[in-house]
Amino acid sequence: MSTEEFLMRYIYFALIVLSSSLGALQYLIPDDHPAKALLDEITATKKYSVFHDMETMTKAGFEYADAQPTTGIIVTRHPRLPGYIIKAYLDTQKYYSGRSEDYYWEKRAEGARLIQQAIDDYGFEHLLKVPQKWIYELPSAKSVKLPKNCYPKRSILIEDDMDIVSDEENRALWASPQATHELLYALHTVITKYRFRDCAKPANCPFSDDGRVALVDTQSFYKKKIGYSKLTKFLIPSMQQYWKSLSHVGVEGDQLIP
Ligand SMILES: Nc1ncnc2c1ncn2[C@@H]1O[C@H](COP(=O)(O)OP(=O)(O)OP(=O)(O)O)[C@@H](O)[C@H]1O
Ligand SMILES: [Mg+2]
Repeated sequence: MSTEEFLMRYIYFALIVLSSSLGALQYLIPDDHPAKALLDEITATKKYSVFHDMETMTKAGFEYADAQPTTGIIVTRHPRLPGYIIKAYLDTQKYYSGRSEDYYWEKRAEGARLIQQAIDDYGFEHLLKVPQKWIYELPSAKSVKLPKNCYPKRSILIEDDMDIVSDEENRALWASPQATHELLYALHTVITKYRFRDCAKPANCPFSDDGRVALVDTQSFYKKKIGYSKLTKFLIPSMQQYWKSLSHVGVEGDQLIP
């Protein structure tokens, strides 16, 4: 390889690394975020990270939570952080699909911004909402060697708590008059616009205390296949028909195309 070729390759890879880290920067929690200073206090540690394992996590005051069935994330809350939920992977957990947690936090934060954009563009604020999501970098572990079979995690995700109803209540609401034509149309439009794969699964689009549906799972977008059918069986028959009829509607720009 000539020196020129080598330099070109070096610059190319440096640009890729730079653009990916700049991408993540925009989702880093701002210093003036109400939870930032508290998180600094709560996650300050002398030995292992607070998110080393379930014991260190609960000792630091976070609620115990089982890992989510597919992605394995831990969704937890802290009494000193009312109004927020935390998504984390522990050092004792493997990297999901072999990618570091930062990759997924960035996806989730970006997906949330896309959804907010669609809600604003179409004027669906009265029907749908989405949490703001920020990446919080954990204080670097104090050069402690991790035990075998551990996978160091450098960051967590903090989101607005959407005050969602219980699973049972949510399923009942999707089968009730609260699941209106207008709501289904809005949900369909938003998830189609940015091709969100999993947002029609009731656990990912739960009703909340203020009556709106919250889109909480924002990781998978620009996907070829969209799981519209995950909602269908929860709706009453006439709404199932309406939902299915929408499934053939496309979105282009600001226009819904029948
Ligand atoms: N911002 C939020 N506010 C309130 N509850 C939330 C929020 N985010 C997530 N949850 C709750 O946590 C659950 C899991 O979160 P999420 O859907 O993001 O994880 P997941 O990646 O789907 O996990 P898996 O796919 O493994 O089930 C949600 O179904 C919801 O009940
Ligand atoms: Mg989910």
